[in-house]
Amino acid sequence: MEIKMKNTELIYQLKEENILPPEGFRQLLETLTEGEREELSAAAREVREREYGKAVYIRGLIEFTNICRNDCYYCGIRKSNDRADRYRLTPEEILECAREGYGLGFRTFVLQGGEDGWFTAERLEQIIRSIKKEFPECAITLSVGERDREDYVRWFEAGADRYLLRHETANEEHYRHLHPADMSLKHRKECLYALREIGYQVGAGFMVGSPGQTVDNLIEDLYFLRDLRPHMIGIGPYLSHPDTPFAGEKDGSLERTLTLLSILRLMFPKVLLPATTALGTLDPTGREKGLMAGANVVMPNLSPVSVRKKYELYSNKICTGEESAQCIHCLDIRVKSAGYEIVSDRGDSRVN
Ligand code: 5AD
Ligand code: FES
Repeated sequence: MEIKMKNTELIYQLKEENILPPEGFRQLLETLTEGEREELSAAAREVREREYGKAVYIRGLIEFTNICRNDCYYCGIRKSNDRADRYRLTPEEILECAREGYGLGFRTFVLQGGEDGWFTAERLEQIIRSIKKEFPECAITLSVGERDREDYVRWFEAGADRYLLRHETANEEHYRHLHPADMSLKHRKECLYALREIGYQVGAGFMVGSPGQTVDNLIEDLYFLRDLRPHMIGIGPYLSHPDTPFAGEKDGSLERTLTLLSILRLMFPKVLLPATTALGTLDPTGREKGLMAGANVVMPNLSPVSVRKKYELYSNKICTGEESAQCIHCLDIRVKSAGYEIVSDRGDSRVN
C-alpha cells in the first residue's frame, strides 16, 4: 500500500531536495489548506531571505509597441483585435523612457513589445546600442518574442543582457488550445535554449489558470523549467480580455498563483521571480502577497502615460492612470509594507 505523505512533509522535502515527484506536486496543488499554504509560503520566504536578504530588485518596463503579428487567443494585443488602439514608440521616445527611469534609480530596462516587424534586427540593435552608450552600467532585458537566432546573437553582441520569453505552457495539446496553428511550442522551446546558449540570462514562465490548463499541465511546466534552468521565471494569473476569443473565461486564482510562486522559490532558490502586474491587477495587494510568497522582483511601468492603457494584454491593468506616472514611489511603500526593501542595482541572476 502506498503511504501518503502529509503536506507539511512534502513542503519540507521540496525545501530540502528542490524537487518532488509529480504526485507530490499534484497533492500540493490540489489539497493545501490555508494554514499549509502559509507554511509553504514561510519556507519560500526563508529560502528567499537566505539567498537575497530583504532586497527587492526593480526593472523599468518600457512597453514600446503593441503591434503584433501573432494571434494568441488570450492576449488583448493579438493581431485580430481591431479594437486595440495601436502605437509604436520612436527610438528617441524609448531612450527618453530610459533616461527618466535612470533618474528614478532603475538600473535595468526591459524593452517589451508585440512581435512588430517595424523593429528589424538592425533597428533594435541601434536602440540597444544607444541605451548602452548612455547608460553603460545598466542591464537591458529584451522581451520581443520569437526571432531568428542570428537576431538574438546580434542583440547580445550589441549589449543586451537578458531575455524574457514565457513558454506559456509546456504541454503540446494545451499550447494548441492557446495559440493558432502557425505557432509552435517546439519553436518556442528552441528559442529559449538558443537564448541560454548564446549567453543571455533567460526568463521563461507561464500564466496560472489559462483556459484549459490542468494540474498535469502545471506539473509539466515545473519539470520543463527544471530542465531549462532559467535565471528568471515570470508567472502571473491569466486575466480575461473581452476582445479575444477567450472573452468570458474565468480569471486565474490568486491562491494558486501564490502557491506556485512558493513552489518555484523552493525549486529554484536563486531564481529571479517577479511579483507581476497581473498579480497586482487580480488583487489590490497581490504584489505584496507575491513578495511574501517568495518573489523578489517588481517591474514598474516606465512607458509614457499616454500609451499605458493601450498596452492592454488583459482587462483593468493597474498603473495606467495619470496618478501612476511614477509608480516607483507607490511601489516603494508597498514593498516596505511587505517587509522588504527596493534596491537600486542591476540585480543580476545568481543562477549559473
Ligand atoms: N492574462 C494574463 N497574462 C497575459 N499575458 C498575455 N495575455 C495575458 C492575459 N490575458 C502574458 C503572457 C505573455 C506576457 C507578456 O503577458 O504570458 O508572455
Ligand atoms: Fe504603479 Fe502603484 S506601482 S501605481
